[in-house]
Amino acid sequence: CGIVGYIGDLDAKEILLKGLERLEYRGYDSAGIALRNEKGITVIKEKGRITDLRAAVDSTVLASTGIGQTRWATHGVPNQTNAHPHQSTSSRFTLVHNGVIENYHNLQKEYLQDVQMISDTDTEIIVQLVEKFVNDGMTTETAFRHTLSLLHGSYAIAMLDADEADTIFVAKNKSPLLIGVGDNFNVVASDAMAMLQVTNQYVELHDQEVVIVRKQAIELMTLDGETIDRAPFTAELDMSDIEKGMYPHFMLKEMDEQPGVIRKILQAYENEQGELAMDENIVNAFNEADRLYIIAAGTSYHAGLIGKHYFEKIAGIPVEVHISSEFGYNMPLLSEKPLFLFITQSGETADSRQVLVKIKALGYPSITLTNATGSTLSREADHTLLLYAGPEIAVASTKAYTAQVAVLAIAAYVVAKKRGKTVEIDLKKELAITANAIQTLVDSKEEMEQIAHEFLAVSRNAFFIGRNLDYYVSLEGALKVKEISYIQAEGFAGGELKHGTIALIEEGTPVFAIVTQQAVSLNTRGNVKEVVARGANPCILSMEGLEEENDRFVLPKVHALLTPLVAVIPLQLISYYAALHRGCDVDKPRNLAKSVTVE
Ligand code: G6P
Repeated sequence: CGIVGYIGDLDAKEILLKGLERLEYRGYDSAGIALRNEKGITVIKEKGRITDLRAAVDSTVLASTGIGQTRWATHGVPNQTNAHPHQSTSSRFTLVHNGVIENYHNLQKEYLQDVQMISDTDTEIIVQLVEKFVNDGMTTETAFRHTLSLLHGSYAIAMLDADEADTIFVAKNKSPLLIGVGDNFNVVASDAMAMLQVTNQYVELHDQEVVIVRKQAIELMTLDGETIDRAPFTAELDMSDIEKGMYPHFMLKEMDEQPGVIRKILQAYENEQGELAMDENIVNAFNEADRLYIIAAGTSYHAGLIGKHYFEKIAGIPVEVHISSEFGYNMPLLSEKPLFLFITQSGETADSRQVLVKIKALGYPSITLTNATGSTLSREADHTLLLYAGPEIAVASTKAYTAQVAVLAIAAYVVAKKRGKTVEIDLKKELAITANAIQTLVDSKEEMEQIAHEFLAVSRNAFFIGRNLDYYVSLEGALKVKEISYIQAEGFAGGELKHGTIALIEEGTPVFAIVTQQAVSLNTRGNVKEVVARGANPCILSMEGLEEENDRFVLPKVHALLTPLVAVIPLQLISYYAALHRGCDVDKPRNLAKSVTVE
């Protein structure tokens, strides 16, 4: 979910709606705003997208204070009642929330037996508790802080009090939140993009902090009310980074940006002598580790699998890759000197963060590989490696994935050099060649559209197979197809398919095979023959030099270690065109959110 707030002199409604549109990547199953003017507080909420909310907002209501939320449902189905803002029984308090209150049930039993709940959400508890404590005689601020001290879980909160005209009560724990500061106005937002049109000055909030936001000033404090001083920072974002421009979808724009991103990364990780390099402290952290633990979710996990290959093959460091939601609650036996590498585009994924919190408590070192400077995981890890991919807005990750793979290759390479290992690859040169190959591929859109129509126009399911690095790309290709075109797709190690899953192959089932690794190319081709014998419709994507007659597409040749960077591009484009063809919402696929800030 994403939240916003505005207090100033302008029309709050437009600023809030625009902000929510920018936060839609965080969830878009329902949305709402609360507007406050001299007549009181008006709440408008709707199931659906911000466009639905916009249509429901009465344009004649003028207000210069307000809060809003766009939701990704956790507790309670997405409907109008469960949409935020939520109000207390008397309607005096109105609140928006991002996060999960784990102990809401106990709090309800302990304090709110007599209160008739309006919604099925955990959020409503917060606003009802504030009202209860105010009724018991506390001031709003004290009741707010007291309520927060009872909550277990994650929250980014903005609250209005009908009796206190000029204030937004704000708090944060685990869920990301920023205060944007301006001349005669202040704003609240889950990220800086949301409010970039009004300010680029932001104050970062830490866990368990409270802010009293007024038009002229903000008052930052701890849960106990102790004042905190913190200077604002400048958000280095450009409006053109966060707008689609001529493109019909962010995903298409972001896929097209990939060659440029690789080149940008090459510049960013270069020293004065023009050699690939990175922060010496980070190189030392890798060098000192006896084992690397890569922790990630979704697409970032798939990049992590390739990272394992790089660190083991290039730098000679053993690596384990773990899904973050599993690792924290079922920790394996760790090596003596582990180093944790968190891969996270957003830097906000709660599943990954819970692991960081746990391994920090155990005293282990950590690095976050992220696209978001100043994000939670970046701030809380010992070191940060940046992706330089620019904001990624489409829910399905494309350029962040290729950036992750490229930076992982560079990190492994730089560490290998530091360890005095003989490194066969001239990585700088090979990445530059790869950037050109990616360009050729993103320029082959017509061909990819054709393949999408041919193989995915009507199919219910699809398989992606490959071995070694091609296997990892298969996993990512299948995820892309699932995410945006809703075709049931599975990525498989070529050799494993026959041990069960081959039972699903029927007449016409599309099987995409990736063949870029010479050592296993014939094995994968053998696996293709097995599925073809059972009726599958094969689409072989092979690398120049390894191609055979009936291959559907030949990928431009790049170094064997870097093939994931090119092999994934056709799969991204094919899923894009399959989704378009099926009339799916490419940038905002159903049920998903780009940044999942709940566990
Ligand atoms: C969400 C997104 C995925 C993403 C995953 C991890 O589930 O829908 O596309 O890969 O989170 O996100 P992160 O920001 O940690 O890389």
